[in-house]
Amino acid sequence: MDKEQLSMGKKYYTITYGCQMNESDTERINGQLEELGYRPAEEMEDADIVIMNTCSVRQNAEEKVYGKIGEIKKLKDKNPDMLLGIAGCMAQENKGKLIERMPIIDFVIGPYHIHDLKDIVSKENARGGHVVKTERNPHSVEDYSELKSVRKSKIFAWVPIMQGCNKFCTYCIVPYVRGREISRTIDDISNEIQTLADEGYKEVTLLGQNVNSYGLDFRNGTDFGDLIRAIDKIDGIERVRYMTSHPRDMTFEMIDAMAESSKVVRHMHLPVQHGSNEMLKKMNRGYTIEHFKELLSYVRSKMPDIVVTTDLITGFPGETEEMHQETLALLKEVRFDSAYTFIYSPRTGTPAARMEDQIDSDTKHRRLQELMDVENEVSLELNKEMEGKTYSIIVEGPSKQDPMNWYGRTSGNKMILFPYKEGISVGDIVDVKVDTAQTWVLKGELI
Ligand code: SAH
Ligand code: SF4
Ligand code: F3S
Repeated sequence: MDKEQLSMGKKYYTITYGCQMNESDTERINGQLEELGYRPAEEMEDADIVIMNTCSVRQNAEEKVYGKIGEIKKLKDKNPDMLLGIAGCMAQENKGKLIERMPIIDFVIGPYHIHDLKDIVSKENARGGHVVKTERNPHSVEDYSELKSVRKSKIFAWVPIMQGCNKFCTYCIVPYVRGREISRTIDDISNEIQTLADEGYKEVTLLGQNVNSYGLDFRNGTDFGDLIRAIDKIDGIERVRYMTSHPRDMTFEMIDAMAESSKVVRHMHLPVQHGSNEMLKKMNRGYTIEHFKELLSYVRSKMPDIVVTTDLITGFPGETEEMHQETLALLKEVRFDSAYTFIYSPRTGTPAARMEDQIDSDTKHRRLQELMDVENEVSLELNKEMEGKTYSIIVEGPSKQDPMNWYGRTSGNKMILFPYKEGISVGDIVDVKVDTAQTWVLKGELI
C-alpha cells in the first residue's frame, strides 16, 4: 500500500500551545497530514491521529500539555488505534523521556522535523513505534520552506522569516529548544508572500523570535530593513505585521524602513521585560532602559500613531521592591497600549534557574497584580483617546459572544466591534467610528 492509501478516510486533530511560530508550524503539520490523505476531525474523539504542538516557555504551558495527555489517554483506551504525536518545544526539550514517562505517546518530533512526519505516520508500525526525531537538522530552513501549509484563514497568514534565537536571555528556554538563528532568504520569503497575495490574502505576519536580527546570519549586510523594503513592492498584500521586535538589534534605519513602508502596520510589539537596568543586565537583555526609551522616542517620532505593546516578567531572581517600582514607573511614563505580564518561571538548564534570591510565590503574585492594575489604567486611557475617531479595519468575522456583532482590527492591532450590516464579509476593509472604549476592546459603528 502506498502512503496515501494507508491514511485514506482517516482524520486528524492538532492542538497548539505557545507562540505564533507554533501556530504557523501547526499549519505545516496539518499540510503534511493532508498530503497523506488525512482530513480534519471536528472533535478530538473522532480522530485517528492527534498531534500536540507544545510550548515549554513557562511551567504552566507544560502543565496544560500533561493535563491534555491524561484526557487523550482515556480516548486511546477506547480507541487503541489512535496515534498520538508530540511536536514542538517540549518534544525538542524532553525527547525520548516523554515516551518513557508516558508510553501512550507514539512519536515525538522536534520543530525542525515536520518534514519527517509523513514518513513516520505512514509506516504501518507507527502505532507504538515510539519514534523520536529531535536531532539537529542542518537543512532545517530549506526543509521548512518546502512544506505545504493548510492555513486556518483565507485572509491572514503567518510567514516565518527565521528560526531560532541567539540571545540567551538568562530566563529563557527558547534558544535551547529552537537552536541558533537561521534566516530564510529574501527571495524565498517574497515568493511565499507573492503566492499568498495571488491567493487573495490581505495581511501577513512575519514571524521570528527577534525579527530585528533577520538576515544577520548571512553576514553580507542584509537586515530586516532590506526585507521590509523588498516586501513593500509585492502587490496585493494590504498589511504586513511582524513579531517579535527586540530592542538589541533594532536600528534607526530599520525604523525608517518601516515608517516609509505603505504596508507595514502601525503596531510594534517591543518587549522591555523590566524597568530596572540591574534586572535587564541579569536577564542578559543587552540594552538599558535609557536606550529602550531612545528607540521608542524615535519610533514614535517617525510613526506618531503607532501602537506599542510589550512583555514584562515579574519576580525574576533578586528583584527588590525598588526594582519592581521602577517597572511600575516605566509603565506610567512610557504608556504601552498593552502589556503581557508573566510571573518568572524557572526553566531547568537556564542560568536564572540557578541564581540565588528566587522570589517567593506570594510576592510574585502581588507584584503581577500591581503591574496589571497600572497597565489596565493606561490601556483604558489610551483606548479612550480613540473615541470619536474613525479607523480602517480588516473584518475578521462575528464575535464569539454575540454573532450580531462583528469585529476587525486596526493597523495598530486594536480590536473594534461593530453591529453587523448586510453585505459585509470577512476580509472587507471598512471604516468604523469608535464610540466606546474599554480596556481590551473598542466598540464602534460602520461608516
Ligand atoms: N523572543 C521574544 C519572546 C519569546 S517568549 C522576545 O525576546 O521578546 C515570550 C515572552 O515570554 C517573553 O517576552 C517573556 O516575557 C516571557 N518569558 C520567557 N521566558 C520566561 C520565563 N522563564 N518565565 C516567565 N516569562 C518568560
Ligand atoms: Fe527568549 Fe530572549 Fe530569545 Fe526572546 S530574545 S526568545 S526572550 S532568549
Ligand atoms: Fe513556546 Fe517554543 Fe514558542 S517554547 S513560546 S512554543 S518557541
